[in-house]
Amino acid sequence: VGLLRNIGKLATCRPEGGQGDIHLLRDAAVAWRDGTIAWVGAERDLPPEYRVEAPIDAGGALVVPGLVDCHTHLAFGGWRADEFEQRILGASYLEIATAGGGIASTVAKTRAATDGELLARCRMHLAGMRGLGVTTVECKSGYGLDIDTELRLLRLYRRLGEEGPTRVVATLLGAHVVPPEYRDRREEYVDLVIGEMIPRTAREALAAFCDVFVEESAFTLDEARRILRSGQAAGLGAKLHADQLSSGGGAELAAELGAASADHLERISDGGIAAMAGAGTVAVSLPLASLYLCQPPLPARRLIEAGVPVAVATDFNPGSAPSWHLPLALTLACTLQRMTPAEALKGATIIAARAIGLEREVGSVEPGKRADFAILDAPDPNQWLYHFRPNACRLTVLGGTPSRESADA
Ligand code: NIG
Ligand code: FE
Repeated sequence: VGLLRNIGKLATCRPEGGQGDIHLLRDAAVAWRDGTIAWVGAERDLPPEYRVEAPIDAGGALVVPGLVDCHTHLAFGGWRADEFEQRILGASYLEIATAGGGIASTVAKTRAATDGELLARCRMHLAGMRGLGVTTVECKSGYGLDIDTELRLLRLYRRLGEEGPTRVVATLLGAHVVPPEYRDRREEYVDLVIGEMIPRTAREALAAFCDVFVEESAFTLDEARRILRSGQAAGLGAKLHADQLSSGGGAELAAELGAASADHLERISDGGIAAMAGAGTVAVSLPLASLYLCQPPLPARRLIEAGVPVAVATDFNPGSAPSWHLPLALTLACTLQRMTPAEALKGATIIAARAIGLEREVGSVEPGKRADFAILDAPDPNQWLYHFRPNACRLTVLGGTPSRESADA
């Protein structure tokens, strides 16, 4: 049995209510058994069986559910700082990609990297994220783009999940772009994704989701529909990179397929918003990518007003979002996307968990959920996301155990 007590404000982030309803409890305590939350309430009501010898003391601070980063491209070789400079000097993301840079250059470096190198980097990133309060991370493949490397990346994610303590959910993004060696025979590449990558991923249970980058420079709507339908038939939930650089009907397709999420959506159309509202698909906003690529922000207010749940994630990758700082993404969601701190927090907890199919296991502080928490050095969510600091997280707890990284990250 474990206990977290002396919580000034506990944002339970239970799913019911609207985007901004984070269901705050004052002067609260949380008790767990075998890593699973058993009791949540006002500390004065704590049942005697949970009065343990050495509880964790939150010091009157704000406690939130362990944060969920529901969209990352965690494993990749190299970085692309040269392109950062080129974009500042005026080159566009697409021009750089057409000239052989962009995703293709990371693919070459990822294929050349050893498992050991990739694992070491992923472990470092996950440790840094834990230090910020992030306890669950979705990880996409997509920098292999051949069968061996795609499966290799997914197996690395499985291993990271087994190692813990961060909870890892893997997504097959074999359809990130058409790799250079298939440039003149893209149909063959789509057939490879459908005919081999998806079946082998499903057979080895290496991923929960299949994702496609729908964009002029990547895959068409029809290709995405074929790939995601075959993924669904194999048991992989659907996700899309949609309407990022151009408005291409990706949100509408996500709704048509009953996708778990449609991500990016900077350029979502009115029809796309209406379609998503009826479908229960989560809109995943990625404000770091919008910021780095100077895209207009996702229209969060219109989505929320239409009843679409909006998650916030980092999109951590070496091109469009070279940072895994989820709290920074949350502050940007407030300023650029005009989400309130409470709305942003719900978007990085229970709504993010829903985007990766884990809403029954993580994302809120309720009995039955994993005992994952972030203890933040702030009195409330407004102060937390307004007074941005490198790290306001004082302690991260995963499955009832405090994380080693918390003190020094
Ligand atoms: O989510 N949009 C496509 N994929 C990534 C960028 C990948 C890259 O530039 O390496 C994204 O923004
Ligand atoms: Fe992405």
